[in-house]
Amino acid sequence: MKLRTIAICVLALGISGVANAAGEIIIKFSHVVAPDTPKGQAAERFKQVAEKLTRGRVKVEVYPNSQLYKDREEIEALQSGAVQMLAPSLSKFGPMGAPEFQLFDLPFLFPNQETLHRVMDGEAGKKLFAKLDTKGVTGLTFWDNGFKQMSSNKPMHAPTDLNGLKMRIQSSKVLNAQMKALGANPQVMAFSEVYTALQQGVVDGTENPVSNFYTQKMHEVQKHMTISNHGYLGYAVIVNKTFWDGLPADVRTSLNQAMKEATVYERDIAQKDNDDALARVIAAKTTTVYTLTPTERAEWQKTLLPLQKEFETIIGADLIKIANTTAA
Ligand code: LMR
Repeated sequence: MKLRTIAICVLALGISGVANAAGEIIIKFSHVVAPDTPKGQAAERFKQVAEKLTRGRVKVEVYPNSQLYKDREEIEALQSGAVQMLAPSLSKFGPMGAPEFQLFDLPFLFPNQETLHRVMDGEAGKKLFAKLDTKGVTGLTFWDNGFKQMSSNKPMHAPTDLNGLKMRIQSSKVLNAQMKALGANPQVMAFSEVYTALQQGVVDGTENPVSNFYTQKMHEVQKHMTISNHGYLGYAVIVNKTFWDGLPADVRTSLNQAMKEATVYERDIAQKDNDDALARVIAAKTTTVYTLTPTERAEWQKTLLPLQKEFETIIGADLIKIANTTAA
């Protein structure tokens, strides 16, 4: 091996601790959903573009479906450097010490995806990413999934229909309060465990965008779904800060460009993926799908809107105000 090549290899190893014998910089990108979801497809798109733009200096290994780590463990793995890149749901940043991300969990706060994008890509998004600096994590971009729907084994029209139901939630205090306000009994559980928990009756129901519901086959074990669009589920793509800061500047520039392209792609396909998934759930005929009437929806809003005030101190009144005053 030429001296220069050896020097590059040593440098790469020193930078990242994850370069392979060929001197390639390895990015392990771990996530918990199926490859054919918006996040799964965008992770693959990032891989393709990143490897092309860095002309093979970077190799991205995508691990879907909690193959490497479940929800909580993947965040610890990122912080310790066992993996370099994740895209956890915005509901999972509380346990990392960044509860402000729960802004996106507040029910009925965002009227549409355009408003969400303005908030994420604007001042609020910057403020949120700044909170990650002290956690050894750098935020790169926000990805969509979409609005969440409720599912269980009984019809849910009025908020009171959830009374007493055990509902699986992500680890978010806002989601916990949301389910309690609906009279349900919230249970935090890793995404990879939801299907079995529904099948075995450990929980009665859950909430998720339909793309997650369908790709995890939850329609096999849930009799009813209500199109409530009561809250949003999106992602922050994050990297290990030491790894990221240690990359050669030109590699980082290429990776930023690849992430930009993957983000445009991701936001473009997310809604369509959810629409397609809904059509498939309906076609499977195992889950009855019901859409709230405007009057029923107003009732859900009346029950859940007070959460904005309740969480002002934890999330920040400034962030909630930005979200409320950003109309698209
Ligand atoms: C969930 O746990 O329900 C979701 O956050 C999974 C995901 O990453 O979309």
